[in-house]
Amino acid sequence: MIRIENKGNKKVLTVDGKPFFLLAGEVHNSDSSSPAYMERIWETAVSMGMNTLLLPVSWEMTEPEKGRFDFSVPEKLIAQARERNMHIVFLWFGSWKNAECMYAPAWVKQDLRRFPRAQLVKGKSKTEIRIFPGLPFGMPYTTLSYLSGETARADAVAFAAFMKFLRNTDAKEQTVLAVQVENETGLLGAGREVSVEADEAFASPVPRDFLAYLKAHTGTMAEDIRAAVENAPDSGSWPEVFGSAAEEVFSAYHVSRFVETVASAGKAVYDLPLAVNCWLDKGGAPGTYPTGGPVSRVHEIWNFCAPSIDVYCPDIYVPQFKQVCDEYTRRGNPLFIPETATHSYCASRMLYTVGHYHAMCYSPFGFDDIGKPFSAEQGFFFGVDVTDPALKTRQDLSEYRSVGRMVQSMLPLLADAYGSGRLQALSAETDSVIPAPNQDSSPARPAFMNFGVFRVEISFPGSAGTGACLCLQVGDCECYIAGKGCGITFRSAKEELPNLDFLLVEEGTFSDGGWHPGRRLNGDETTLLKLDDPGILHIRFFLY
Ligand code: DGJ
Repeated sequence: MIRIENKGNKKVLTVDGKPFFLLAGEVHNSDSSSPAYMERIWETAVSMGMNTLLLPVSWEMTEPEKGRFDFSVPEKLIAQARERNMHIVFLWFGSWKNAECMYAPAWVKQDLRRFPRAQLVKGKSKTEIRIFPGLPFGMPYTTLSYLSGETARADAVAFAAFMKFLRNTDAKEQTVLAVQVENETGLLGAGREVSVEADEAFASPVPRDFLAYLKAHTGTMAEDIRAAVENAPDSGSWPEVFGSAAEEVFSAYHVSRFVETVASAGKAVYDLPLAVNCWLDKGGAPGTYPTGGPVSRVHEIWNFCAPSIDVYCPDIYVPQFKQVCDEYTRRGNPLFIPETATHSYCASRMLYTVGHYHAMCYSPFGFDDIGKPFSAEQGFFFGVDVTDPALKTRQDLSEYRSVGRMVQSMLPLLADAYGSGRLQALSAETDSVIPAPNQDSSPARPAFMNFGVFRVEISFPGSAGTGACLCLQVGDCECYIAGKGCGITFRSAKEELPNLDFLLVEEGTFSDGGWHPGRRLNGDETTLLKLDDPGILHIRFFLY
């Protein structure tokens, strides 16, 4: 059984009752359309210590003609994963892919009457939009209308057929651990659709049960949405009820209901965890990001409208990594990162998401690009802050491999500590130093992890901003530290036993579930404990 369950204070993915972390990579959009092409990609993933790949499967290839289904490609992909003892999360590229409809079948794309397009200008199915402020030219844009029940139903039939195929092929082996429904849903270029039907729906009364739900869930809402909901009259049209937030709330309501139609049809056939990924808002106005998609400000709306979705996933290409992770976890949503950039924070972010967020999935996009130059286009399109050199620099491939293999080797132990205070992490990007209190002359303190009776202070000297480490406590005064680019200081946190002496410091590796010690480092090394290159230390001490 594959489930999302509560463990301690976190929600975790479990396979037959055991927590599992998807140490994953997402392939480029087209790679998984060809199992032959995928051979090389699988091998790269194995060499990086990954246990899962995120693979698109498109509506157009699975239902090339209405009612004729072909699952031969996903079937081969599942066989390839099994040969390597790996897992898959399939990404259902149905009505939406990056807020467009490029993967809908030809018979859907060509039938504009039955499957209408979203109108950003009344009467027009395709419009030029300007979403990149720096670009002097616009982008031709079209996508399927989120108001079309007919489109949602056709997508749902195909998705249910796909889930039935998964159930029949994989319910026993459980190679496929989750499915992402659609890809980066929402409407670009505007706050809402403006067809005649859309105008009518916008002027019609807001459903009472929906409004009542929002009014009962304002505690975690984004400020402006909360203000709109708190001030909302008990009935009225969308603009009457939600004021300036009306367009986004309206779009989120309809996009999430469309997704629910698809997701629930699939879940009824095969009950796997279902996810949706998100093109982030980056603080912009609706339409500069796909309006209605699961940006964190509309999660309460998605909660109400799309109960079949288990997890909302941020695609993180922005510099504010921690801020996004915090936003996506503060309502109890588990951290599942299906896409992130391959610049030099890639490896340290993996350690941090496992150790700090007890994440469900960490998956760089186009992971086989790791080690290749991180291009200026990536910087531009993904909103990378070019003032931070670490965001401009590529991730070193051998370092990523080492960190990946290291995390994979520790997974059973790490997963066991998920949801508890025994597993913590710090990274240079997120926690370099804690500022001195009151701006006085006392020096800034290094960031630390607090384990009750002891604490571990971490500094990141010379790590070019990409140092990180996690600490796994396995006894009162015993732990493993896995990290890179960090200096480590242990201190007693017990007033009555203020001194701490090491009993054991050794480097080593995990394999086959056991610890294999290398050098014992009880000498000079304990004076300045550090991990320059990726590595694991086993540490035991006592307090007196
Ligand atoms: C986000 C999308 O979800 C992916 O499919 C891909 O297009 C990446 N952006 C980057 O190219």
